[in-house]
Amino acid sequence: ARLRPSSGALAGRRVLVTSGPTHEPIDPVRVLANRSSGRQGHAIAAAAARAGAEVTLVSGPVAIPDPAGVTVVHVESARQMLSAVEAALPADVAVFAAAVADWRVATDAAQKMKKGAGGPPALTLVENPDILATVARREEGRPTLVVGFAAETENVLDNARAKLARKGCDLIVANDVSHAGGVMGGGSNTVHLVTADGVESWTTMSKEAVAEALVARFAGRLGAPE
Ligand code: CTP
Ligand code: CA
Repeated sequence: ARLRPSSGALAGRRVLVTSGPTHEPIDPVRVLANRSSGRQGHAIAAAAARAGAEVTLVSGPVAIPDPAGVTVVHVESARQMLSAVEAALPADVAVFAAAVADWRVATDAAQKMKKGAGGPPALTLVENPDILATVARREEGRPTLVVGFAAETENVLDNARAKLARKGCDLIVANDVSHAGGVMGGGSNTVHLVTADGVESWTTMSKEAVAEALVARFAGRLGAPE
């Protein structure tokens, strides 16, 4: 079907989405990674495009195809993701669905590390930039709506409320990733929308249905198209 970008609930809006994991190099053949299929973030980008938005998707390494009607920027590391996000701004809505590696190796080796008499290497880790917090705290050109995700294994709502405040975003989509064979890589998601006004818990839906419902919510929060 032909996309009709001039119509839809997000017509005329710019939407930025991060998705997938990041890979932080250890040496030329090894990475530190995160578990994320990219399915939820990619579904949000696709749904926003179907709603008429001009969408940029900044994606870490994933095994799923680029969504239709979306500009996709492929990155590997958290620092590359931050640069790509800053280059893609301004946006009306920014959605941070990526599972960003919290740490990277302080100095990645130029050559493949070899086993040897020295035993296993000790990796020194340093913290990656927080992409969501960097964008949410921008003085100029902050997106109208900054949306974060919180993948938690315990105390889901308390952790999500703390993240909302700490990162300065407008909405956190929280989910419980503790159950094996569950949301990570799976097709469905059970989410809680956490804002300053409170919590709204949604029934379990496909990631596509969650994406559609989130996009409708974004459109509602932005108001009538300009
Ligand atoms: N996020 C980000 N950049 C990072 C880390 C996280 O943009 N370096 C974003 C994620 O995309 C997500 C939100 O921040 O939207 C929350 O990520 P999460 O890992 O749950 O939060 P952290 O602040 O990293 O806390 P922790 O992992 O310790 O729970
Ligand atoms: Ca994290």
